[in-house]
Amino acid sequence: MAKTKTTFFCQNCGAQYSKWQGKCTSCNEWNTIAEEVIQKAEKATWNPSEATAKRAAKPLKISEISTQSEARLNTKNNELNRVLGGGLVPGSLTLLGGEPGIGKSTLMLQIALQLPYKTLYVSGEESAQQIKMRAERIQPISENCYILTETKTQNIFRNIQEIEPDIVVIDSIQTLHTDHIESSAGSISQIRETTTELIKFAKETATPVILIGHITKDGNIAGPKILEHMVDTVLQFEGDRNHIYRILRANKNRFGSTNELGIYEMQGSGLREVSNPSEILISKNEEDLSGTAISATLEGMRPLMIEIQALVSSAVYGTPQRSATGYNAKRLNMILAVLEKRAGFKLGAKDVFLNITGGISVDDPAIDLAVVAAVLSSNIDIAIDKRMCFAAEVGLAGEVRPVTRVDQRITEAEKLGFTSIVISKYCKLPKQTYHINVIKVAKVHDVVHHLF
Ligand code: TYD
Ligand code: MG
Repeated sequence: MAKTKTTFFCQNCGAQYSKWQGKCTSCNEWNTIAEEVIQKAEKATWNPSEATAKRAAKPLKISEISTQSEARLNTKNNELNRVLGGGLVPGSLTLLGGEPGIGKSTLMLQIALQLPYKTLYVSGEESAQQIKMRAERIQPISENCYILTETKTQNIFRNIQEIEPDIVVIDSIQTLHTDHIESSAGSISQIRETTTELIKFAKETATPVILIGHITKDGNIAGPKILEHMVDTVLQFEGDRNHIYRILRANKNRFGSTNELGIYEMQGSGLREVSNPSEILISKNEEDLSGTAISATLEGMRPLMIEIQALVSSAVYGTPQRSATGYNAKRLNMILAVLEKRAGFKLGAKDVFLNITGGISVDDPAIDLAVVAAVLSSNIDIAIDKRMCFAAEVGLAGEVRPVTRVDQRITEAEKLGFTSIVISKYCKLPKQTYHINVIKVAKVHDVVHHLF
């Protein structure tokens, strides 16, 4: 019998070593190196049949390649299409990562059920009956969707040759294993090898493959970093499991922008696309409450009206507490310091809590001015007019700074029925008149006059 060959892999970054050591010299992590058994491949894994070989790609002269956009497969799901940049590209590998229970399997099964193409959903995590039960909750059962519960890539490929699906979904990459390597499923070498086999299959047959991936406790996709390099698109499905909204983002996209964002609502019957997010992110409270302000933010190309809630109260303990959900806590401290120093508000002895509703987190600096407004409103306990919104960044000198694409934000606010929007005095606006009252301010101090 041939001698089994073993190699040591760092389970964090995938670096390879000939002998064990305590610290990975590549990523500097301790105790991440484990021994894995490797066996050389005896035959190729993906053997295209006659039928599939016909679909295989051929070399083209670069001059012959059309520059028109590739024929993408419409996933019939507008939010997913938007994040992918217009649909699935033939032959592409898409990796979908997210916390356990966030809804990755639900989303993919839902897509598989509503697609007009032949889809193969391979699951290594659930039984066929479980999947059928879930499918019945989600959608009318489709004739085009095939379910396979299998984890061995060789068997998966055999089934693919038989069914010839247009799209393949793998749930999840960590459960797959190939005969050529003896280490257990989910190990670095298995993930790397099975992904390589899938890439080869995808590229040769121009079939898009979607992989579901687990994430580690610090939020990265489990497995070697190289996995993210190998695939074409990395999508992240995030959100708070206790909230109903889920956000789909692209962390990497070879075929489109990574700025786009898809929003879903988890319901009893699967994930509903949220096509007008501004409506759900603003609470429909009739009464005027102090401490809330609305910001006109942009996520990618998409305008989002977001409600910010602040609570300012006298500190019970010596050191005031400051906490922020969905907003950078350091930035909150900075804004409070600016208000204290540049606008004369005494917030030093106050507890300040900040929350962005809907459980989403926002990076757009345009949210700053709404944070200022919410904090001031809670501080003096007077509500801000609900039909007013904000879009500006706040600088250290207390200046109100312009943000990108103000015109788009104003138009969105106008469309949603706001009557005024506060922006920076230094914004360059196209010479058009808005029906909404555009208030321009230069300093944080000036904002107060317009608020109450
Ligand atoms: P799941 O897709 O299994 O998560 P993942 O594959 O990311 O681990 O999602 C499971 C959660 O979604 C579970 O807590 C139940 C909930 N869910 C609904 O609320 N409605 C539904 O229609 C379905 C199918 C699941
Ligand atoms: Mg799952």
